[in-house]
Amino acid sequence: MIPISRPLIGKEEKEAVLAVLESGQLAQGPRVQEFEQHFAAFCGVKHAIATSSGTTALVAALLSHGVGPGDEVITTPFTFIASANSILFTGAKPVFVDVDEESYNIDPNLIQERITESTKALLPVHLYGYPCDMDAITHIAAEHGLAVIEDACQAHGAAIRGRKVGSYGTGCFSFYPSKNMTTAEGGMITTDDDEIADHARLIRNHGQSQLYLHQTMGYNFRMTELQAALGLVQLQKLPEWTSKRIENASYLSQRLSNVGTPQVKEGYRHVFHQYTVRVGLHRDGSLERLNQAGIGARVYYPLPVHQQPFYRQLGYDESLPVAERMSQEVLSLPVYPALTRDELDKIVNEVSKL
Ligand SMILES: Cc1ncc(COP(=O)(O)O)c(C=O)c1O
Repeated sequence: MIPISRPLIGKEEKEAVLAVLESGQLAQGPRVQEFEQHFAAFCGVKHAIATSSGTTALVAALLSHGVGPGDEVITTPFTFIASANSILFTGAKPVFVDVDEESYNIDPNLIQERITESTKALLPVHLYGYPCDMDAITHIAAEHGLAVIEDACQAHGAAIRGRKVGSYGTGCFSFYPSKNMTTAEGGMITTDDDEIADHARLIRNHGQSQLYLHQTMGYNFRMTELQAALGLVQLQKLPEWTSKRIENASYLSQRLSNVGTPQVKEGYRHVFHQYTVRVGLHRDGSLERLNQAGIGARVYYPLPVHQQPFYRQLGYDESLPVAERMSQEVLSLPVYPALTRDELDKIVNEVSKL
């Protein structure tokens, strides 16, 4: 089976982790700080705050912006559940805006009509590694005085005209093993705003400003030195891996004609966390055939958030037709950097038979 994703762990990662184990400093320390500095430079922002996961990065980012009970946060229903759950976790209410059919990302033209007195923030998700229309989104946010929290959990290094995602608002990244780079579990918040950065650092560590002096409510959202050591090595390798993902995606797109391939707008850098194609309403059968032929295709995501049982219980009963249709029509194909030419050809061959 060609898996849908594969973490790439080499000798350098193993040596880096062993060195931490031998150092005796396992919890958050100098390596976490070094990883933060390198990641901030990579995104072109002033601050990066490492966390225990992408989910805790999102929660801490929302809390840093003062999002809480009574507030509404506008986001997409076509995403991993954590994007919306992180809003619920703060006590605020996720408000879903349908996606655009071509990008699968939140449709900026539909945001305005869902803004109310209670709206506090916009939380766009750069799904599959493709940037949302951040010009339009930041424009709407500025007009209405809203915070922008970018869920860039799938989009390390994605950019619009050279400007990286995570630098438009407060960025949140995940380093889960399936992501374009990994720290096993882990996350990162990115921001240019000194106050938000200070607040996020407090929230990450029990609200502690100095040892046993607590300024605010906080949590243990810290990253370990083991994770940071992994992350430092992986971040060095990321540019080469991203180029390979883009190359693999282009190889597939040039050869696939019977499915809708990913569209990349002029000036946009898609980092292909997922290579997602639109196969139509016979998707479930196609998925099964690909899996039987040894291609680890998967669906991200088969049920939009507003239709999840838990959200139904919360009273969400609206219809968001584009997200609902996309969740029935798309599937993702392996695109990770270690794919061989033979494996790519096998994917082309099997998909062409659908
Ligand atoms: C879009 C999106 N948001 C949030 C998350 C949550 O990240 P994590 O699994 O690191 O908590 C993920 C990844 O799983 C994701 O893909």
